[in-house]
Amino acid sequence: MPPTEKEKNFKTVVRSHYKKHGRHTLPWRLTVDPYYIAVSEIMLQQTQVSRVVSKYIEFLRAFPSVQLLATAPLSSVLKQWSGLGYNRRAKFLHQMAKVVVTEYNGVFPEAYECLKKLPGIGPYTAGAIAVFAYNKPISMIETNIRSVYLDYFFNGKVGITDKELMIVISQTLDQKNPREWYWALMDYGSYLKGQGNTVHRMSKHYTKQSTFAGSRRQIRGAIVRELLKGPMTVATLVKKLEKEKQLLVSVVEDLQDEGIIQKVNTRYCIS
Ligand code: ADE
Repeated sequence: MPPTEKEKNFKTVVRSHYKKHGRHTLPWRLTVDPYYIAVSEIMLQQTQVSRVVSKYIEFLRAFPSVQLLATAPLSSVLKQWSGLGYNRRAKFLHQMAKVVVTEYNGVFPEAYECLKKLPGIGPYTAGAIAVFAYNKPISMIETNIRSVYLDYFFNGKVGITDKELMIVISQTLDQKNPREWYWALMDYGSYLKGQGNTVHRMSKHYTKQSTFAGSRRQIRGAIVRELLKGPMTVATLVKKLEKEKQLLVSVVEDLQDEGIIQKVNTRYCIS
């Protein structure tokens, strides 16, 4: 289908914003190495760009290749992750590195379907690796991209689904240079948010973080920080963190189920 006038105009707006105000020097935009891209995308999932930049550089200094990450102990990966939060992501990244090394000989696959099967990689991250590392024209959506399309094509309408947005995303996709097109979309989305645009709340996929989830997350982080210093019993954790025992035990169980911590005799540890 030939592009509509609105679609043509849209591309001009997004591209000219990128030319003038694009974040051209973000460190993960200066590389096409799929390992570097994967690290950046996993870090950027729930953390702001400004907080990721220095962590990203330090992380890659500590683990400069997928092989070095795969063979490192989880405890050193988590130490390097500290400050980024949501440490489940570090565990997934570590597992992903192991799978790339054992099943793909240390070379990231190019096919979207293979990328999607890697541990902890959802449709967006698989798409992002295919786009930013291999410049493949794949439709994908994340928070900034969502904002841009909601703002331009669905102004004022509520309850728009990602399925609806993905149709327009694929119709406007730059087949020749998807890499740059997505950089431009993300920068435009980030600009809209900076302008106080709250269009992202119109999406069906908008979820506000609950206080309950926030408090569990805070305890998760605190437990991991303590256990990185050395093995500890639940009783010690309760005393150190000054949390209610029942709540603490339930968070400890989550971390154990996810393979982030283990129980050895009476104490919990990170190996
Ligand atoms: N550049 C490439 N991926 C990005 C992301 N997820 N957020 C911001 N900028 C990016």
